[in-house]
Amino acid sequence: MTKPNTSSLSSFFCIACAAVVILGRTCSCLQFTYPNFNASNRDDFSFSPGSAISNNSLQITPNAGNMTHRSGRVVYAKETLKLWNSKRTALTSFRTDFMLNILPQNGTGEGMAFMLTNNPSLPSNSSGQWLGVCNNQTDGAKTNQLVAVEFDTRKSYQDDLDGNHVGLDLNSIKSVQQHPLSNQSIVLSSGSDVLVGIKY
Ligand SMILES: *[C@@H]1O[C@H](CO)[C@@H](O)[C@H](O)[C@H]1NC(C)=O
Ligand SMILES: *[C@@H]1O[C@H](CO)[C@@H](O)[C@H](O)[C@H]1NC(C)=O
Ligand SMILES: *[C@@H]1O[C@H](CO)[C@@H](O)[C@H](O)[C@H]1NC(C)=O
Ligand SMILES: *[C@@H]1O[C@H](CO)[C@@H](O)[C@H](O)[C@H]1NC(C)=O
Ligand SMILES: *[C@@H]1O[C@H](CO)[C@@H](O)[C@H](O)[C@H]1NC(C)=O
Ligand SMILES: *[C@@H]1O[C@H](CO)[C@@H](O)[C@H](O)[C@H]1NC(C)=O
Ligand SMILES: *[C@@H]1O[C@H](CO)[C@@H](O)[C@H](O)[C@H]1NC(C)=O
Repeated sequence: MTKPNTSSLSSFFCIACAAVVILGRTCSCLQFTYPNFNASNRDDFSFSPGSAISNNSLQITPNAGNMTHRSGRVVYAKETLKLWNSKRTALTSFRTDFMLNILPQNGTGEGMAFMLTNNPSLPSNSSGQWLGVCNNQTDGAKTNQLVAVEFDTRKSYQDDLDGNHVGLDLNSIKSVQQHPLSNQSIVLSSGSDVLVGIKY
């Protein structure tokens, strides 16, 4: 994947998302729409412990009880999408639009990410700054096989731009590109619905 320039990054926030990973049967033409999420959609996804369908949404981490040191993954598991062949020629394109809503409680929460990966399982110790993407040991490893668009609500290490940005992550939580949102009147962690669009 080539690094998008800043202008294509800025198109990120006309879209909206959830930590949905794509996996499953291979299909060259994959399309799905969820006006909301409810019990009848449960089998379309795989859920890490503590994540669920709740309140017509994909609830990535619990919003009650022990909310500290939690991370989660909800994976679209019905079908897979093959973006590249072995020669890394672009095979297809994709577009996704989704709504996210983040409301930190008692100071917990660092953000979320939309991911494409062939590995649905949640890494251990991936809470906090790791956003469920990787952990201290696996950060940057090619075996992660993932591309993520992060919605980061906390400046948790030096290279983090600020506590309200989007970033493009390739196998690592350290983004190859970041873009601030505050001067666009978008506050990711305000508990407001944020509409996200991602195009590749
Ligand atoms: C459940 O979700 C599906 C897919 O989003 C939707 O078509 C259906 O209307 C929903 N059912 C209810 C009761 O909301
Ligand atoms: C459920 O979703 C609605 C609409 O987004 C929101 O106003 C409400 O606070 C949510 N309830 C819970 C318990 O999360
Ligand atoms: C809360 O959950 C986290 C993650 O599962 C765990 O590490 C921590 O010990 C729990 N805290 C309490 C007070 O149970
Ligand atoms: C936040 O912390 C206060 C004080 O520790 C506690 O009473 C309250 O239940 C916590 N709220 C949530 C949503 O965990
Ligand atoms: C997770 O963190 C705990 C406590 O810091 C550590 O003992 C354990 O080895 C870590 N596991 C992995 C897979 O990194
Ligand atoms: C992993 O954690 C240890 C202990 O906290 C730290 O010393 C080390 O620098 C971390 N490694 C990475 C790659 O973040
Ligand atoms: C927002 O801030 C960034 C970096 O400070 C800047 O590159 C960008 O042009 C600004 N956008 C607007 C709409 O002001």
